[in-house]
Amino acid sequence: SEAVHLDKQNWPHSGVFGTIDKAAAQRGFQVYKEVCSACHSMRLVPIRTLAGIGFKDDELKALAAGYEVQAGPNDAGEMFMRPGLPADRFPSPFPNDNAARAANNGALPPDLSLIAKARVGGEDYIYSFLTGFEDPAPAGVNLMPGMNYNKVFPGHQVGMPNILQPDGVTYADGTKATVEQEAKDVSTFLTFVAEPHLDERKQMGVKVILFLLVLAGLMYASKRKLWSTLH
Ligand code: HEM
Repeated sequence: SEAVHLDKQNWPHSGVFGTIDKAAAQRGFQVYKEVCSACHSMRLVPIRTLAGIGFKDDELKALAAGYEVQAGPNDAGEMFMRPGLPADRFPSPFPNDNAARAANNGALPPDLSLIAKARVGGEDYIYSFLTGFEDPAPAGVNLMPGMNYNKVFPGHQVGMPNILQPDGVTYADGTKATVEQEAKDVSTFLTFVAEPHLDERKQMGVKVILFLLVLAGLMYASKRKLWSTLH
C-alpha cells in the first residue's frame, strides 16, 4: 500500500512541557458546534468538560441550556425533552446510526469523542484529513457516487464532504478563520476532549521527575556521609 503523508503541525500541546492552547481549543469548539455537530456526535463528553479550556460556570450553564436533551421517563412513563445542564453529555445530531447513515449517503459519521486517539496520527491525521480534500479528484480516480476525494483517508474515497470554508465561522477573538486555522483549532479541541487531563498528566510527570532528582541528590549526600568514616 502507498505511504500517506500527514501534514504535521507544531502543536503547542506536544512534548513533555506542552499544554493545550485553550484559546485555540475554544475556537475549535466553536467549529465543532457550528460545523461538525450537524453530523458528528460527541456523546461521551459531558458539557462541563469545557471547564478545562476556560469556560466559567455561568458560561457552561448558558451553553448547556442552549441544548435540548432527552429525559424521562416521567410519572406517566413518557420521555420528554428538557434544557441541558452542564452535567449532561453533548446531544447527538441523529437518534441512531441508521438515521445517521440515511442522512449521509450510507456513510456513518463517527462519534468524535475519542477520534483523536482512535486514528493513527491523532491530531495530525485530523488536520490533514480536514485539509486533504481535492475537488476535482486527481486524474484517473473513479469516484463512486456521493463520494469525495481525500488525500489521507484510507482508500481516498470518503463519504464526508469538504466542509471547512474560509470564514466558515466568525471567531469571537478576531482570529482570521482560514481553512487551515479552523482545521488546527478543531484538531486541538478534539485532542482536548479525547484527553481532558493531558495537561495535569504532564505536569505530574514533571513533578515526579523533579522529585526523583532531589531524592537522588539526598541519597547521594547521605551515602557520602555514611561511608565517610570508612578509611
Ligand atoms: C468522517 C471529522 C464535519 C460527515 C469523519 C472523520 C473525521 C471527521 C475525523 C473520520 C475519518 C476517518 O475515518 O479516518 C469532522 C470534523 C468536522 C466534520 C472535525 C467539522 C469540522 C462533518 C459534517 C458532515 C460529516 C458537517 C456531514 C455533512 C462525515 C461522514 C464521515 C465522516 C459521513 C464518514 C465517512 C466515511 O466513512 O466514508 N469526519 N467531520 N462530517 N464525516 Fe466528518
